[in-house]
Amino acid sequence: MADDPDSDMLSWDESVFRNEHVFEIDYVPETFLHRESQMENLKYALKPAVRGSRPLNVVAQGPPGTGKTTAVQILFDELRAQTDIQAARVNCQVNSTRYAVFSRLFEGVFDYEPPSSGISFKKLFSQVTDKLVEDDEVLVVALDDVNYLFYESEASDTLYSLLRAHEEQGGAKIGVIVVSSDLDLDIIEELDGRVQSVFRPEDVYFSKYDEPAIVEILRERVARGFHDGVVESPVLDRVAELTAEQGGDLRVGIDLLRRAGLNAEMRASRTVERQDVEEAYDTSKYIHLSRRLGELSDSEAALVEVIAEHDGEQAGAIYDVFNDRTGLGYTRYSEIINKIDQLGIIDATYTDVDGRGRSRELTLNYDADAVIERL
Ligand SMILES: Nc1ncnc2c1ncn2[C@@H]1O[C@H](COP(=O)(O)OP(=O)(O)O)[C@@H](O)[C@H]1O
Ligand SMILES: [Mg+2]
Repeated sequence: MADDPDSDMLSWDESVFRNEHVFEIDYVPETFLHRESQMENLKYALKPAVRGSRPLNVVAQGPPGTGKTTAVQILFDELRAQTDIQAARVNCQVNSTRYAVFSRLFEGVFDYEPPSSGISFKKLFSQVTDKLVEDDEVLVVALDDVNYLFYESEASDTLYSLLRAHEEQGGAKIGVIVVSSDLDLDIIEELDGRVQSVFRPEDVYFSKYDEPAIVEILRERVARGFHDGVVESPVLDRVAELTAEQGGDLRVGIDLLRRAGLNAEMRASRTVERQDVEEAYDTSKYIHLSRRLGELSDSEAALVEVIAEHDGEQAGAIYDVFNDRTGLGYTRYSEIINKIDQLGIIDATYTDVDGRGRSRELTLNYDADAVIERL
C-alpha cells in the first residue's frame, strides 16, 4: 500500500514520533521552565568558584521528578563550556560508598579510571586533591540522590573528606551540592557532629510542579517528540492530571507520553487518544516501584517477596519465613527492614502485642500482586 497522508492509518514505515529519544530517561531538555529561581540560587552559590574561590555548599531537596538532576546537568554543562571549573555529578545510588564517590571524582579530574588493583582511600583522595592544587582548579561535586549514602552509613565520612579537603590538602577547593529526593531525611540532623560543624549549606528547594506547569513542560516535550497533531490538548491535559496524581513526578508524565505513543502505533493510529493514555497509565504509575525493586540485592528482594506474601503480619512471624528461605540471621533481617522502610517500599510500625510488649508490623506500601509481578 502506498503512503496516503490522508489516511487515518499509519503505514509500516511511518511513526507518530518525530524523535522518540526525547522521552528517554537521560535526555537533558533544551528548555527548563519553572525552575528559574532554583537555577539562580545554584548559580549564586557557585559564583565564587568563577573567581577561583571555594564555592558555597548547597543542599537541594524536593520530591522525585522535580528537575533536581536536570538542574545540575544543565548547570554543569554551562560550567564546562564557559569556565575552567571542574564539575562532577556522582550518582550515589550506584556509587554508595565514600570510596566509590572518590573513584568517580578521580575519573572526572583525570579523565581515566583509578587503578582497578585497588589503592587505599587515602591515596585516591590525595591524588584527586593534589591534582586540583597543582592545576589551581576548583572542583564542584554534586552528590546526586545522596540519600543512598545515608542508607549505607557512608554520608558523614564522604562529606567530611570533601569539606575538609582544603585544610588537609594544601588548599584544594571543593564545593558540594547535596541532592536528595527523600523528604523524610533530615540531612543535617543525620550527619555526625564533626560534619555538622563544617557544613553550613545554602538551601535550594525544588517544589512540586502543579498541573498547569506540568502541562506547559510536557507540551514542549510533545512538540519535540511527536509529529504535529498527534497529541491534542485534551489528551495532554489528561496526562498532566495523571502525573499530578502521582505526586507531580514528571518522569511519570514523560513515560506516559511515550507509552501512549507506542499504544497508538500498535493500533496503527496517527493520533494518540485518551484510551492510549489510560492503558499506558497501568504501567507508568508503577515506574517508581519498578525502579526501586530493580535496585534491590537478592536478599533484599527475597524479604520484599516474603512481606508481599504476608502483608501486615508481625516482624517475628515474617522473620521465620525469611530465615527459612534465605538462611540469613536476625541482624541482617533488621538491617534490610530498615532499608526497605527508608526506601518507602514498606512501612514498619511498632504496635503493642498483648502481653508481649511492642513488635513491628510490616506492611507493603504497594499492591502486593503488583510487587510480586515485578520482582
Ligand atoms: N522544568 C522542566 N522542564 C523540562 N523537563 C523537566 C523539567 N523538570 C523535570 N524535567 C524532566 O523530568 C524528568 C525528571 O527530572 P529529574 O531532573 O530527573 O528529576 P529529579 O532529579 O528531581 O528526580 C526528566 O526527564 C527531566 O528531563
Ligand atoms: Mg534525580
